[in-house]
Amino acid sequence: MVKQQNSYVCQDCGASSFRWMGRCPSCSAWHTLVEEALPDPGRQSPLEPPDTPALASLEVDEKGHRVCAGSKEMNRVLGGGIVSDSVVLLAGEPGIGKSTLLLQMANAVAENAGPVLYVSGEESPQQLKLRATRLSISGERIHIMDSGAVEKIQAAAEKLKPALVIADSAQTLRVMELGSSPGTVGQVRESVSKLSEHAKSRSYPLFVVSHVTKDGLVAGPKVVEHLVDVVLRMEGDNRYDFRLLRAVKNRFGPTGELGVFEMEARGLKPVETTGDLFRPYHGPPGAGAATVAVCEGTRSLLVEIQALVTASAYQIPNRKVTGMDPNRVALHLALLGKSGFSLGQKDIFVNVAGGFRLNEPAADLGALMAVASSYAEIPLPPQVAFIGEVGLRGELRAVHNFQGRIKEVAQNGLQCIIAPKNNENSAIKLNGLTLRFFDELKAVLKHFFAAGKRQEMGS
Ligand code: TYD
Ligand code: MG
Repeated sequence: MVKQQNSYVCQDCGASSFRWMGRCPSCSAWHTLVEEALPDPGRQSPLEPPDTPALASLEVDEKGHRVCAGSKEMNRVLGGGIVSDSVVLLAGEPGIGKSTLLLQMANAVAENAGPVLYVSGEESPQQLKLRATRLSISGERIHIMDSGAVEKIQAAAEKLKPALVIADSAQTLRVMELGSSPGTVGQVRESVSKLSEHAKSRSYPLFVVSHVTKDGLVAGPKVVEHLVDVVLRMEGDNRYDFRLLRAVKNRFGPTGELGVFEMEARGLKPVETTGDLFRPYHGPPGAGAATVAVCEGTRSLLVEIQALVTASAYQIPNRKVTGMDPNRVALHLALLGKSGFSLGQKDIFVNVAGGFRLNEPAADLGALMAVASSYAEIPLPPQVAFIGEVGLRGELRAVHNFQGRIKEVAQNGLQCIIAPKNNENSAIKLNGLTLRFFDELKAVLKHFFAAGKRQEMGS
């Protein structure tokens, strides 16, 4: 019998070859050839006309379709719970807490919905048991499998009829008919594709863990992102205890949703109100710190931006930004220059406190105010929150979910919000909170730094 051959396909130009090469002979790209299984002509069956039901005839019960994922945070990120036959990719750097999160979720599903199959390719069952003990999970209905062979996982799922299957991780999965070792792009793609087909046909949800490289790319599984329904990214800084879970792609809910967890000695604790988590400093006010009210998905949170402006010892001054887009900050520094802040010969460092990553333009005003405050050496009043996107003409642009931000500011006991004029119509009045509206950056700068004196807020 002739052995079925696989081909190697260039992921850039699509050229195929029968042996692996470091460089594509067609487009000369390096390391783009990926092993793919060729269809076996012997196995093809005569084509039968497939079922094509009318969309109107389908009945789906949206509520009954979802299973609780164990915590409000996890449910929120998934768009309201685990959809019954969905495939979810959970990506994150090694050691960030993916296995911990999924084991806790497995426990909740096992208690509420049915047996869970946990495929642990990275840790032995004993290691998993130790972790479970630490998390106070007894795991009567969590079944462990330590083989990453896709065919075996499918067989185990057939027998167990699980309410959830977790594959930890994609890099340890393998399809037997592919000769390459686990972790190669071809293996990862084929394995996830086969497992998700099975999950959909048997109507169980499948979670696949995947490691991310340092530069933030989903290693290997970048190629499976399109195969899955939901992509979750777990972020955090090992120096801090909080972990963020973001929905990057979600076929069943909004993207951009954010879940916050705190890593404790006994696992991940959901954090429903972030409070001062990202505003760590509570001493007397110092120059160079501003609080911003940002919005991630449907939740609002307060984050502190810190800036340090010093005279540069070099011809080309040093500019470093952590936790924000450096290009955006550079652009806004030019605006400050136009407003009379001579930053040309200054080293400027901007940092988002607590290791948080801000993706939102509404943080522009806060970042600029932190820089201006450090430059002028005038502290900003700590009870003020800044909200506003800053345009290139220095105009303040309206932000979305203004009311959510106002509530978050009030809940945290701050007393004043500086916001764009265009948001004035959507404002709500809350006791003890003053709102001040400005239409351009210059006016805000003047308000706080005019004549080198701090203006008292709330008056
Ligand atoms: P883990 O879930 O193994 O990370 P991943 O699967 O993403 O590689 O988490 C590993 C880290 O979490 C490890 O540094 C120890 C820490 N941890 C706790 O702090 N408390 C706990 O209860 C557990 C289980 C882990
Ligand atoms: Mg792990």
